[in-house]
Amino acid sequence: MRVVTVVGARPQFIKAAVVSNALRDAGISEEIVHTGQHYDANMSAVFFDELDIPAPTHNLEVGSGSHAAQTGAMMMGLESFLGSHSRPDWVLVYGDTNSTIAAAIVASKMDLPVAHVEAGLRSFNLRMPEEINRIVTDRLSTLLFCPTQTAVDHLDREGMQHGIHLTGDVMLDATRTYSRRAAERVSLKSLTKLEKDTFYLGTIHRAENTDNPARLASILQAFSDLEAPIVLPLHPRTRSKLDLSSIGTSIQLIEPVSYLSMLTLISSSIKVLTDSGGLQKEAIWLGKPCVTLRDETEWTETLAGGWNQVTGADSDAILSAVKANPEGEAPQFGEAPEGSASSEIVQLLSG
Ligand code: UD1
Repeated sequence: MRVVTVVGARPQFIKAAVVSNALRDAGISEEIVHTGQHYDANMSAVFFDELDIPAPTHNLEVGSGSHAAQTGAMMMGLESFLGSHSRPDWVLVYGDTNSTIAAAIVASKMDLPVAHVEAGLRSFNLRMPEEINRIVTDRLSTLLFCPTQTAVDHLDREGMQHGIHLTGDVMLDATRTYSRRAAERVSLKSLTKLEKDTFYLGTIHRAENTDNPARLASILQAFSDLEAPIVLPLHPRTRSKLDLSSIGTSIQLIEPVSYLSMLTLISSSIKVLTDSGGLQKEAIWLGKPCVTLRDETEWTETLAGGWNQVTGADSDAILSAVKANPEGEAPQFGEAPEGSASSEIVQLLSG
């Protein structure tokens, strides 16, 4: 059996790490194609090194561009790669990025079966590029690996009937596996001078926030008005939109961090304020309340007990959510029905 995995953006490296390891353990041959969507060392190479992901066999080096330019270049590169190599049994794709949709379209038009990790996620907001990528990729996939029952229900409501499996969430596997490694290898001191439990952790990278100056300004206003400092590892998209000289001193800007460093920052923070999908879940799994700087969340399981609060970009709403405390234990979600999500996925791929 041969699997071709297509990845390109930061969250996909993390998800692929645990599945790649499980494929290796099962003796299944995997070739990794990197589209080159993320290319800075701290957005890409550091993840391959730190998470023991096999080096990509092929890098399409597509880089940045408009959605059409970036996705089109990936599609041309992938068509040429898949056409010149022996037929894989599966083309494995992750999540909701332009790399995901490019691979799903090319593979399905070449009559190659697509398997989608993190299928069935919906924000019901079609202005998000990720939502378009999710819907198209799910529609074209033969195997749909759903992290939660909510995701299964979405596909069911869309009338999809075949190949849908509740596998659990590979990000939970990653959080569990790599938290131990982070505790051993990463010191908080190497990331910030601030002490444990004295700072908030923030991230902003969604187009809906970075490309809307009013939203971005309102989020930063809230960050400046917090009663404790906030550490903000800055995505290059966000950096390019900011006037760095106008940032208040309570906002501590740092470069994008590796996955182990991010796990260390989350577990050392008071709370997490983010527009990332993955970080919302990682916060809750690591027992930290989350404030989501978006108008909706795909991860509705995180909302139980007020552990995750969706505020949008309004600074007053953000500040009052930060003050509120969650009730009860942090919600549990994303568990595999048996074993782990990555082993379940490998078993399903093996047929
Ligand atoms: C992409 C995904 C998003 C995911 C995010 C994780 C899409 C549509 N979006 O968003 O779902 O949550 O990755 O980070 O696929 N850039 C660099 N260096 C890099 C990578 C990007 O400087 O290594 C800059 C470029 O200026 C680029 C911009 O960041 O134009 C945005 O990158 P892009 O890949 O278009 O989308 P992301 O915002 O990273």
